[in-house]
Amino acid sequence: MNPGKVVAIAGASSGAGRAMALLLAVRGYPVAVCARRQGPLEELVGEIRAKGGQALAVPADMGKWDEAENFVERVVREYGRIDVLVNNAGWGIRSAPFDELSLEEIRQGVDVNLYTVLYGCRAAIPHMKKQHSGHLINVSSLLGKRARSNLAVYTACKHAVEGFSRSLVNDLNAHGIKVSVLAPAAIRTEWQAKAGISLDPKTRLLEPEDLALMVQYLIETPGHFSIWNMDLVALEQSFNPF
Ligand SMILES: NC(=O)c1ccc[n+]([C@@H]2O[C@H](COP(=O)([O-])OP(=O)(O)OC[C@H]3O[C@@H](n4cnc5c(N)ncnc54)[C@H](OP(=O)(O)O)[C@@H]3O)[C@@H](O)[C@H]2O)c1
Repeated sequence: MNPGKVVAIAGASSGAGRAMALLLAVRGYPVAVCARRQGPLEELVGEIRAKGGQALAVPADMGKWDEAENFVERVVREYGRIDVLVNNAGWGIRSAPFDELSLEEIRQGVDVNLYTVLYGCRAAIPHMKKQHSGHLINVSSLLGKRARSNLAVYTACKHAVEGFSRSLVNDLNAHGIKVSVLAPAAIRTEWQAKAGISLDPKTRLLEPEDLALMVQYLIETPGHFSIWNMDLVALEQSFNPF
């Protein structure tokens, strides 16, 4: 059943965010998507509309406050409300010893993995408070709970996303706003190549569609309770490197 919730997905031009938008739109949810790359976003919206779904694309760098705020405002203007915000933007920057990262890479890492989440929530919460309902889904990682060498900034930011989200749960429950953390292990997306990581091609990974299914599950929980944390791991994945 589709309760008609308006779902905004930040970081949807590829990978898990793209899969979330496709699945939810096909199930009848009005979706809004953002990312920095306009071409893939427009292609996604075209695909959704061709399947009879409703979608809005807003190119935005969520690590910049004005653009994050504009994304949320556009969603509210177009759809009249924002029921779900999935903060999915994230990037490993570069797998390397911390002291070999440039100051610019460190700043970029914090912008994309932490500020995107802070700004998305900051922009959406006032609208959700007015509605007395809403759902923030912050995509973390198993590296929000564990550590992996050569990904120190990413690991630090995903730990911060978990702590931030836990704090928000306490603050927002009384306003009828749910907060969930979705924490996957490795997913088969562009993420590894972008961070310069190569995985054994024989290892079974999570698929982007697995995360999409879990987001659907999270937003369809009955109104009186919330799933605070969801950790996902493919059966053949190991915790050994952590
Ligand atoms: N793949 C994995 O193994 C893995 C494991 C655990 C957790 N995760 C997390 O899962 C989430 C989805 O990643 P993915 O695997 O699907 O990787 P992906 O295919 O690289 O997707 C990341 C998305 O975030 C967008 N993005 C990056 N920076 C952004 C910014 N500043 N503002 C707005 N959008 C931005 C990217 O689009 P643009 O480049 O067009 O902006 C892209 O659409 C991320 O948070 C990632 O950290 C991934």
